[in-house]
Amino acid sequence: MFTVKNEIKVQDTHEAILIGLYAKNQKTTGLTHEIDTLVDGQITVLLKEGDISTKKNNVSKVHTLGKTPIKRVYFLGLGKEDEQSFESLREAFGKAVKVIDEAKIESFAVDVDSFVTEKLAVQDVAHAFGEAFALSTYKFADYKQKSNEPEKKIEDVIVYTNDDADEVEASLKVGFAYGQGTNSARTLVNLPGNMLTATDLANYASEIGMKYGFEIEILDKEEMEKLGMGALLSVNKGSVEPPKMIVLKYQGTDNWKDVIGLVGKGITFDTGGYSIKPKDGIVGMKSDMGGAAAVLGAMEIIGQLKPEKNVVAVIPSTDNMISGDAFKPDDVVTSMNGKTIEILNTDAEGRLALADGITYAKFHGASYLVDVATLTGGVIVALGNDITGAMTNNEAFFEEILEASLEAGEPIWRLPITENHKKRVRKSLVADLNNSPGRDGHAIFAGTFLGEFAESTPWVHLDIAGTATTTTAHNLGPAGATGVMVRTLATLVERFGITEE
Ligand code: BES
Ligand code: ZN
Ligand code: ZN
Repeated sequence: MFTVKNEIKVQDTHEAILIGLYAKNQKTTGLTHEIDTLVDGQITVLLKEGDISTKKNNVSKVHTLGKTPIKRVYFLGLGKEDEQSFESLREAFGKAVKVIDEAKIESFAVDVDSFVTEKLAVQDVAHAFGEAFALSTYKFADYKQKSNEPEKKIEDVIVYTNDDADEVEASLKVGFAYGQGTNSARTLVNLPGNMLTATDLANYASEIGMKYGFEIEILDKEEMEKLGMGALLSVNKGSVEPPKMIVLKYQGTDNWKDVIGLVGKGITFDTGGYSIKPKDGIVGMKSDMGGAAAVLGAMEIIGQLKPEKNVVAVIPSTDNMISGDAFKPDDVVTSMNGKTIEILNTDAEGRLALADGITYAKFHGASYLVDVATLTGGVIVALGNDITGAMTNNEAFFEEILEASLEAGEPIWRLPITENHKKRVRKSLVADLNNSPGRDGHAIFAGTFLGEFAESTPWVHLDIAGTATTTTAHNLGPAGATGVMVRTLATLVERFGITEE
């Protein structure tokens, strides 16, 4: 896919080359200048006239009409150099790659040095490019008959730098791995419920586990019954599909300590159960395993980059269906840690599945916990579709996740958990907890409920109900699943415990 070469020359033959232009570039420099000389100064004229734009995220294509062996130059406007961040550069690359991809060009070159700034070294540029390349070219192989026709796609990218080629190549690979992990999560979320059952999800996780040498444990219904996972099992009662508790362990240090537990909601379809969803609200509920997908995507990145950290991924998985056997409001169930739960709403099923998932992650030695879940419509009302809701019982651990999310460009915002919220979650005439204290600020109740199972283990809850999917295509991907939190989780694991100098 990527070939890194030193010393870019205008004599090399290319279908296209991508060059970055910061706003300061009134005069052509470097490779642009060499090309300009060969095309009799036309680039200078086009720049002056504004036909080549240095404005942020503007792509200008110039055909060299046989005057250079480089057939086309795609200039990517980057705006002011001191305003460029890793995130904005990645976005700009996404835009440019999309334009090149849509032009059905199969091979192109990129001059990564032209994107370097005082703040962004060539390694950062290469990482941003690798990631953006994977993300922006992502397509879901859908089920339309005509989309089975083979399409031209970008096969090769020649990456030029005058800097250390090995370092550039390593950064490209890291960025690409981040992008690919995100894309895997997108595909899982985009798969319809009839094509991704809990069993399918478990098989997929096993494949990843075998590929990267993780320890794999898939619990079936009988094993879960023995372990007393009554919360997850209650959600599965109405289904003909067997539930799965999926565990992948990655050990990157000699001892199994400082273990990060990543727990992902794996509801493969959520009808709401007897507290059934309205017909508009039920559409799209194939995405209710977005948390599981985020965890698996992150595990793929971890498997490739092999950080010296320990991670246990836990995914409680089932669909939430209706039948004569299904669980009902007023039922009381017992979770794995012994706490009893009064069911007030069968549509608040995610927290039940996660309760046992969190307990099981602790059972496997997790000393830190992050759960990721498409948990509540309430978080969409509170924060919209661009920001993931977060809750925690530990300031320092939350700070680590906040840092990771900023680096990944996946914004999170914290919601509070108060004593009053805890009181409402613990209010029941018949059980220790209830699963739905009310509609007022209900994203917080869901988080508060999960906190009852994290107990004193440092824990952060990430509610991705609003961010797991998008209705609009963007520079770094199409409409549909976003793969949100894959990069945050992988960054968290990579950076965990490393304090800034
Ligand atoms: N899976 C849904 C949350 C959801 C809503 C995800 C919209 C993505 C988009 C969850 O299981 C649910 O139904 N939550 C209820 C909780 C309520 C019953 C307390 C909700 O948000 O309405
Ligand atoms: Zn639900
Ligand atoms: Zn749900």
